[in-house]
Amino acid sequence: MQYPAYVFDAYGTLFDVHAAVRRHAEAIGPDGQLLSEIWRTKQLEYSWVRTLMGAYADFWQLTEQALDFAYARVPSANRALRSDLLDAYLKLDCYPEVPSVLKALKASGAKLAILSNGSPAMLEPIVRAAALDTLLDEVFSVDGIRRFKTDQSVYEMVTSAWRLYPDAVSFQSSNRWDVAGATRAGFRTVWINRSGMPDEYADLPPAVILPSLEGLA
Ligand code: LAC
Repeated sequence: MQYPAYVFDAYGTLFDVHAAVRRHAEAIGPDGQLLSEIWRTKQLEYSWVRTLMGAYADFWQLTEQALDFAYARVPSANRALRSDLLDAYLKLDCYPEVPSVLKALKASGAKLAILSNGSPAMLEPIVRAAALDTLLDEVFSVDGIRRFKTDQSVYEMVTSAWRLYPDAVSFQSSNRWDVAGATRAGFRTVWINRSGMPDEYADLPPAVILPSLEGLA
């Protein structure tokens, strides 16, 4: 079934967040993967905790603070790479199937957007580098409302801006918690389970589960 609008999470769904550490894997040392995992986990925890408190700080600040925490937890990781890792976050690779899937959806007449926790300054360079700017109708950043996912007002940004009912929006995310939030908001949801994670949030299930974005178009 074809939907009028397809909305994508950015980090982990279109762009590979672990590409930053992988790019410098040798120089970081043997604990690079652990560093990357703690970095991502803390970045997300900060977003949830700050939204609950009503103490917004933009996603770039959270990304920096999370990297510093990860370094403190993994003392073997080469600290001299701190600025290179942050810089690599602004140059994340998109997953290989992304351009062709977005092109096919666009050709079918659907509207396409990103809906992300990322600040506009973080999203703009990676969208441009992957040449997705010509395919996307909109890049929705939470920065405008200063609350992170899964606050329901985040998902409402799309339906308000595009004057659509939520069930006209197909929302794709590799983050199961984000799928739960979008399901709660009434979107049709597709969980892109890239790393074969077990299911959770059983009361807020995705409509479809795919191993990558292939199969969506
Ligand atoms: C985003 C993060 C949560 O892009 O992946 O919103």
